Amino acid sequence: MRDQASGVAAGWSPPDAPPSWALTAELFRAIAEDDVLLDLAAALPPDRLPPLLLSAAVRDLVAREQPAPLAGYFPTPGSGQPVLDEGFRPALAAFAREHAEELARLCAAHRYQMNEVGRSADVLAVLGDIAPDRPIALVDLGTGAGLGLQLDRYRYRYAADGRTRTVGDPDSPFELHCAVRAGDPPVPATVPTIAARVGIDVEPLDLGVPEIRDWLAACVPPETGAVDRFAAASAVVRAHPAPLVRGDLVETVERVCADLPSEALLVLVDTYVHVFLPDDDRARFAALLPRLGRDLEWISVDPLVPLGPDGRDSVQGLPVPDRAVEAYRAGVTGVVGRLSVRDGAVSGRVLGLAHPGAAWLEWLA
Ligand SMILES: C[S@@+](CC[C@H](N)C(=O)[O-])C[C@H]1O[C@@H](n2cnc3c(N)ncnc32)[C@H](O)[C@@H]1O
Repeated sequence: MRDQASGVAAGWSPPDAPPSWALTAELFRAIAEDDVLLDLAAALPPDRLPPLLLSAAVRDLVAREQPAPLAGYFPTPGSGQPVLDEGFRPALAAFAREHAEELARLCAAHRYQMNEVGRSADVLAVLGDIAPDRPIALVDLGTGAGLGLQLDRYRYRYAADGRTRTVGDPDSPFELHCAVRAGDPPVPATVPTIAARVGIDVEPLDLGVPEIRDWLAACVPPETGAVDRFAAASAVVRAHPAPLVRGDLVETVERVCADLPSEALLVLVDTYVHVFLPDDDRARFAALLPRLGRDLEWISVDPLVPLGPDGRDSVQGLPVPDRAVEAYRAGVTGVVGRLSVRDGAVSGRVLGLAHPGAAWLEWLA
């Protein structure tokens, strides 16, 4: 458990980490090092992502109880990143001791559910090469709260070598920022028209319910950009409800796609979902795509499988370039892939590497 928490802390503290990442790194360092927090994490079933689940329980309880001075260290929407100083760790340790039972109860009652709207910037980068003039029917697999279904309602800024490119809705209440670290992703000049959209999830999350919204906000890392993005995207989702189908994606995708307009190009999106499927389910999903009987694209942004440091295979079964394996081993990285079905023939390629919160993209293609 200590290693898992330290690993998350390390992911938030690379040499070039912006100052706003320090609180998240420190929170997970505390979970690795504080006896009470470590015991709480160690008591959770390993498949519940204990350090992450515990971090969410802490955030949730702090947001509700507003203990001083601890609450002041955590960003809220629009607050900017509060200053982190040496008072944080003792304040957190005292809070954990005082509220250990409540934290355990919260962990038992919830699952860790990360919804990262920034991943829409990775998906959009692929869409430029996919029939840019054809309306799409968007199916977001494992959509969670449905943030990925609204990708035409966000504004995006891609920055590379001092140049920036802005795409998307000029009236969007927020802008997703993505640094292009290498290569030239085919970002489209405009976001494709979405003729139909639907999300599938075993546990769709309704952002209209305040308790669900609060828990999902607590699952967001305490980094000002992530906190602001989630709040803004959550407001967009609530203003534009889209259909969410409850079900296993392998079992339901055929039925869901059958109802979508045939003239639109079917685009299946999966961000950090297929990585969690058992091998058999991933194989069944891949096998059923040509059977859907229409042209389609499957855009995936997922870590390599098996999940963990030994990951080496693409969830889409595509050849993985050495650079992707090497980058993956050096830290948690999403691998961007595109698999196409045209007239029943399947082809595809790994295209790039992506930061899990879409802070950067590295294009390989
Ligand atoms: C890590 S979250 C990612 C959510 C969202 N795609 C994102 O990137 O922010 C994984 C989501 O996949 C859903 N999920 C996992 N297995 C699934 C399955 N077999 N069928 C449908 N949804 C699934 C979970 O309920 C969860 O909402």
